[in-house]
Amino acid sequence: MPAEQPPPGAAPSAEQPPPAEPGFDAVCRQVREIGGWLTEAQAATLWHEARAVPPGGVIVEIGSHQGRSTVVLAAAAPQARVVAVDPFVGGAMFGGLATREKFLANLDRAGVAERVELRQAKSTELRPSWTEPIDFLYIDGKHDYWTLSDDLRWSEFLPAGGRLCIHDAYSSIGVTLGLLRHVLAGSRLRYLDRTGSLARFEVAPAGAPVTRADRLRILAELPWWLRNVGIKVLLRLRLYPLARLVGHADRADPY
Ligand SMILES: C[S@@+](CC[C@H](N)C(=O)[O-])C[C@H]1O[C@@H](n2cnc3c(N)ncnc32)[C@H](O)[C@@H]1O
Repeated sequence: MPAEQPPPGAAPSAEQPPPAEPGFDAVCRQVREIGGWLTEAQAATLWHEARAVPPGGVIVEIGSHQGRSTVVLAAAAPQARVVAVDPFVGGAMFGGLATREKFLANLDRAGVAERVELRQAKSTELRPSWTEPIDFLYIDGKHDYWTLSDDLRWSEFLPAGGRLCIHDAYSSIGVTLGLLRHVLAGSRLRYLDRTGSLARFEVAPAGAPVTRADRLRILAELPWWLRNVGIKVLLRLRLYPLARLVGHADRADPY
């Protein structure tokens, strides 16, 4: 699990300090063995948010892959139920049904399988029939504009002041366009901050409407987004030295 390095020239990110709890260290050791893209600093952010879920609460995760973030959420919140939504799409990146087996084995190994309910479905197909209140929402599913736009509608099940995190925010084109359309131009969700590409939002409570300053915080992330898109293009073209010149030494996308 790579530690998140702030890229040179990046907008400041509000990273949560690693929790000073033995449980977090243990879960980090476990999830290092699980394939995925969530960094340790991002795991800390999810950990903090999941800890705040009330007893008997519900955490919904859209996009689970091999269970890296699922294990973090379930380990952080033994008081809650975690619903993991993933159709386990095929292809070289996500691996199809073999990934489902890895997901189940990883949860079992981490001792959290009992508290995670897997819904093997596309988030967009499950949402219209969903009725339960949600206490924390994590979105890391399909990254196109249309799916992200639909996934944001899961936040309608959060209470006022409820939190959601989105991975690949200001990194993926589809996710970022969805955020511009529905968060920047909307009035229900407030952007808080990000840990790398893991962005935190809250449902604006009654009496604390989304302000111009909240919207400006989103606009301030756009240079970082353009940089990340540029780096992705360089990586696809295998122009690794050029990517290094703009501060990205890794061959993996900026997360
Ligand atoms: C980036 S991975 C998730 C990584 C995971 N959160 C982690 O930390 O390891 C994206 C996942 O989204 C899933 N996915 C693709 N389309 C989806 C959809 N429409 N609804 C829910 N999940 C979807 C893929 O099968 C894949 O497992």
